[in-house]
Amino acid sequence: MKKPVARSHLALLLASLAGAASAEAQIPTDSHINFSPLPENGFMRIAIADPGNHTWNLQVSHDLIFWYEFETIKVHNGRFAKNLHVLENTPRSFYRLNFDPVLQAGESRVNQALALPSTPGNYALPSLPAHFLTPQVIAQDNTPADNPVTDRAATLGRVLFYDKRLSANNTISCASCHQQEHGFSDPRQFSIGFRGEETDRNSMGLTNAKYYERGHFFWDERSQTLEEQVLEPIQNEVEMGLTLDELVTKVSAERYYAELFTLAFGDAVVTSERISLALAQFIRSIISTESKFDHGRSSNFSNFTPQENQGRRIFNGQGRCDDCHGTDNFVSDTVFNNGLENPYTDPGIGAITRRQQDLGKFKTPSLRNIALTGPYMHDGRFRTLEEVVEFYDSQVVNHPNLAPQLRNNNRPIRLNLSEAEKRALVAFLNTLTDPNLTTDPKYSDPFNYGE
Ligand code: HEC
Ligand code: HEC
Repeated sequence: MKKPVARSHLALLLASLAGAASAEAQIPTDSHINFSPLPENGFMRIAIADPGNHTWNLQVSHDLIFWYEFETIKVHNGRFAKNLHVLENTPRSFYRLNFDPVLQAGESRVNQALALPSTPGNYALPSLPAHFLTPQVIAQDNTPADNPVTDRAATLGRVLFYDKRLSANNTISCASCHQQEHGFSDPRQFSIGFRGEETDRNSMGLTNAKYYERGHFFWDERSQTLEEQVLEPIQNEVEMGLTLDELVTKVSAERYYAELFTLAFGDAVVTSERISLALAQFIRSIISTESKFDHGRSSNFSNFTPQENQGRRIFNGQGRCDDCHGTDNFVSDTVFNNGLENPYTDPGIGAITRRQQDLGKFKTPSLRNIALTGPYMHDGRFRTLEEVVEFYDSQVVNHPNLAPQLRNNNRPIRLNLSEAEKRALVAFLNTLTDPNLTTDPKYSDPFNYGE
């Protein structure tokens, strides 16, 4: 990793009630500081972007000669912001942020770096509705016996998931490409890694990843377990770019991780295996049970509009969607070629197994929170659910490996849905959105960024 260098510790910026003035000075590479006066309410906002997570000294002066310590600011996870109240009846105040190399040895404890609840969130024992307690759904659970979800290790996993230190230049976290408000997916067709390069495939939503019986991960299922998968992006040259040794060194260097590892595993030893266990636990804890679909499940969907119910019948009937996106998790127990193109630019599972009969086969993703996770398919080719429905209605392409469920008389299926039926199908897909999941604090960014 490139170490930021500071060659001096000059004052950086001055600001007063009347406005802000800036002075050129040496600050750590990649850091940016912004003072913006908010005169209408007597506040001034300071914002620091600092991937090196340095400690800064905020100082105040009334005459630009004597400077007083106002506050020490430690940046966590790349940024800090705060509004300062500027008193009107005092003489003009000038503020400056001072970068002092001597201050940089400071360590942050959990309660400084993170805004975690005093009792850990409930990750281990979420209350599940009856339709999640059926033998079918229980059989989908891919939690291994040696890594059950515990509240404390899942909390550690949550912190790791949001920590940009897991990338080589401290700019990308798992959450950069798996955003809570987008069902833990990325609204971009391809995601951007730590050097600004694009990923080869569309990011995947992580809702109910625990309920996938095959227990394999990635579009081409190249990871055999979730525990194996979570270390891949960290080492991927486009995504995060660390070796496992570098990962362990960086995580071990943080005081608050010593506390979190101790709570999770009984001692402060950081290993890549423990990082993998904790990340996998956090992901398995991301469970959606509060969508409109879930609420309707016990009342035969009396909460649905007629259009949503029409869409539900098409999904399970004429549309044959449930042949592959089955069960209450809308997921399959096998992989398919769903006829996107011929030949496939991306051979999918065929590139892993090197078998003709696997060309163009991909994981059948869960449709939970599907309205939030666009664009769609492994290459993000469809922007909207309307485009997806149009595809299944009339654009499925013939391919030697095309799934039998998408054939009719050995030809690609044509659903011949009316415009109203297509709209109904989309309306049904929208009932799979769980607004709780996108706002639940237990899945959110835990870092302390000031305010
Ligand atoms: C730069 C963007 C990026 C970052 C960073 C990233 N991911 Fe991903 N993630 C993706 C993409 C793209 C895919 C699909 C890749 C593929 O299938 O080849 C994916 C797939 C996954 C999957 C597979 C889901 C499934 O249903 O099979 C999981 C789980 C996952 N990521 C977890 C993580 C974790 C944990 C981290 C952090 C350690 C992380 N990701 C960091 C972009 C990213
Ligand atoms: C033969 C099995 C099969 C059938 C039938 C099927 N799908 Fe799919 N579906 C898949 C597979 C496999 C993928 C992933 C394909 C890829 O990305 O290459 C997919 C992807 C999707 C996606 C995109 C998911 C994402 O995260 O990007 C949506 C939405 C979707 N299907 C909806 C439907 C609807 C609606 C129907 C019924 C009209 C349907 N599917 C029928 C197998 C199927």
